Amino acid sequence: MSPTAAKKTKLEGEVFYPNPETLTGTHVPDWEAQAAQASKDLTGYWARRAEELEWVRKWDTVLDESKKPFYQWFVGGKVNIVQNCLDRHVKTWRRNKLALIWEGEPGDQRTFSYHALNREVNKFANVLRAMGIKKGDRVTIYLPRIPEIVIAMLACAKIGAVHSVVYGGFSVESLHGRILDSHSKLAITADGGWLNGKIVKLKDILDEALQRSPSVEHVIVVKRTGQEICMDPERDLWYHDLMMLPIASPKCETEVMDAEDPLYILYTSGTTGKPKAILHTHGGYMVGIYATLHDVFDIRDEDRWWCTADPGWVTGHSYMVYVPLLNGATSFLYEGAPSYPYPNRWWQMIEKYDITILYTAPTAIRGLMRFGEAWPNRHDISSLRLLGSVGEPINPEAWKWYHRVIGKERCPIMDTWWQTETGMFMITPTPSVPLKPGSGTRPYFGALKPGSGTRPYFGAAAEIVDEAGKPVPDGEEGFLVLLKPWPAMLRGIYGDPDRYVKQYWSKYPGKYLTGDSAKRDKDGYFWIIGRVDDVIKVSGYRLGTAEIESALVSHPAVAEAAAIGLPHEVKGTAIHTFVILRSGYSPSLELMDELRNHVGHEMGPIAKPEEIKFVDSLPKTRSGKIMRRVLKARAQGLPEGDVSTLED
Ligand code: WTA
Repeated sequence: MSPTAAKKTKLEGEVFYPNPETLTGTHVPDWEAQAAQASKDLTGYWARRAEELEWVRKWDTVLDESKKPFYQWFVGGKVNIVQNCLDRHVKTWRRNKLALIWEGEPGDQRTFSYHALNREVNKFANVLRAMGIKKGDRVTIYLPRIPEIVIAMLACAKIGAVHSVVYGGFSVESLHGRILDSHSKLAITADGGWLNGKIVKLKDILDEALQRSPSVEHVIVVKRTGQEICMDPERDLWYHDLMMLPIASPKCETEVMDAEDPLYILYTSGTTGKPKAILHTHGGYMVGIYATLHDVFDIRDEDRWWCTADPGWVTGHSYMVYVPLLNGATSFLYEGAPSYPYPNRWWQMIEKYDITILYTAPTAIRGLMRFGEAWPNRHDISSLRLLGSVGEPINPEAWKWYHRVIGKERCPIMDTWWQTETGMFMITPTPSVPLKPGSGTRPYFGALKPGSGTRPYFGAAAEIVDEAGKPVPDGEEGFLVLLKPWPAMLRGIYGDPDRYVKQYWSKYPGKYLTGDSAKRDKDGYFWIIGRVDDVIKVSGYRLGTAEIESALVSHPAVAEAAAIGLPHEVKGTAIHTFVILRSGYSPSLELMDELRNHVGHEMGPIAKPEEIKFVDSLPKTRSGKIMRRVLKARAQGLPEGDVSTLED
């Protein structure tokens, strides 16, 4: 065998066995033993993991189930996540280590050591305190992918304020709804951000949203793109001005929080109605996410970690902002689009910064795959040692391309399944040397199958059940549920405890409903099929049919609208809509364009429908609910299934 071949993953059928050489000395030498321990003694296991981090006061109870499904973790413990992201490291040699490397789309660069990042966070935390922001106050953050988004999130957490980050790709109506629901007193934005060579005018969008949201008293504006913007002298303040004031001292006490105190809320689309604010807390979230990066991506001091997700989504919260810092790692953040100015942008940066682990979404892989392998092949990307995927099922074709062209058949792919609600990975492969399947009756770890997230993470218990809640036989499709609580689990929906119980815990009492359908194969590997509710994953972004429909209906020409997701080669799923016009309006190409742009203006470019069909009626149940399932089946030419509840 040639030396290069020896380093490659062995492929047998559709099972990939990572080569031991690429995995020597990984953090978790024996997955089976750990998994067995975690499943036997869940609280003992998590207590041990929590002890790997620093606490102001240790917990009294690891898991309090007395108010379930309102589970509580590390009750009585006192800690602030920032204490473990920054304070802990600046006391050690890591103060001089790079925490964050950043590149802007135009090519500008900034780097922060742990010391420098800590200093900026302290300064901004002092600014926030001086502006009257206290523990428990909500702060809306609407920023591009620039270092200030990381600084702002950490500064809020440091003083115990609850951040509510709104993705910079969202627009007026989505932003307005999130500000209103969270009653934020303060908003942090930038004049703009760079994307595809153009400026996204964040401040203008925020100004428009604020006309409808009275709770915000002040806006802090980061100067990024430098074009002229409107500053309201009574309300708006420049970030750089504030950071020069004497109040912006580089020393700042970290607020001591209860483990169960809120860290952030993050809005996400649910089954019905408007997006809900998923609540995460300091203690359990910190422990859960810390452990996953440590174990699954085997993160080490010499690594350079790149999670390409925007901090405005949960992947960005957990795996771009908090978790690399919790592990004392160096991470990379890039402002712009993957193929700007050319499709080699990512590969060029991997080469330039010697990125060792790349964690991205299938849609990005499919998008870059389209440009052909000549683009990555022009660069030396051999620094990569592990790859990751998240956000939607990865089709085997994209998996194999990622594995062969980017990972050079050396890097195992961690296809991690999780959700905004779970906070951390729940089903994930492991970077371990696999036993061969069929070698005894034991489960095996480490072997990869393209398209499968493989097996539940330590302590996680997943099951696939039928409509009645009975486990289905292996190989059959059903609803994916989680059977045991986990530390980074959501602590509820902010301001709506009933909806939390109803949405996640009432269909199968005692079991957490994920909203996904899945299958398990004979080796115990999980295969996610997709959402079974009214959530659409467009390019990995989570959107609700209800939001898209209400954006359409807010246009004067639209009487009724329905949105569904249909398969799309690059986006995974694309939005298709059906519109009934009000009388006085007639279908036209101009109106179609106008409606698409209207949705773009209200929600953001990602929500623009792929297709708008003008129709005279929509299939509805007798109680008036739109049967999207029927629309979807019709559009794909599939059987319509049970239509007994369909009105005439
Ligand atoms: C989907 C993103 C297949 C799934 C972290 C889930 C995935 C929803 C995967 C949550 C994966 C996420 N394989 N499907 N590896 N990861 N999903 O809240 O449908 O934006 O329920 O969290 O994304 O989306 P969310």
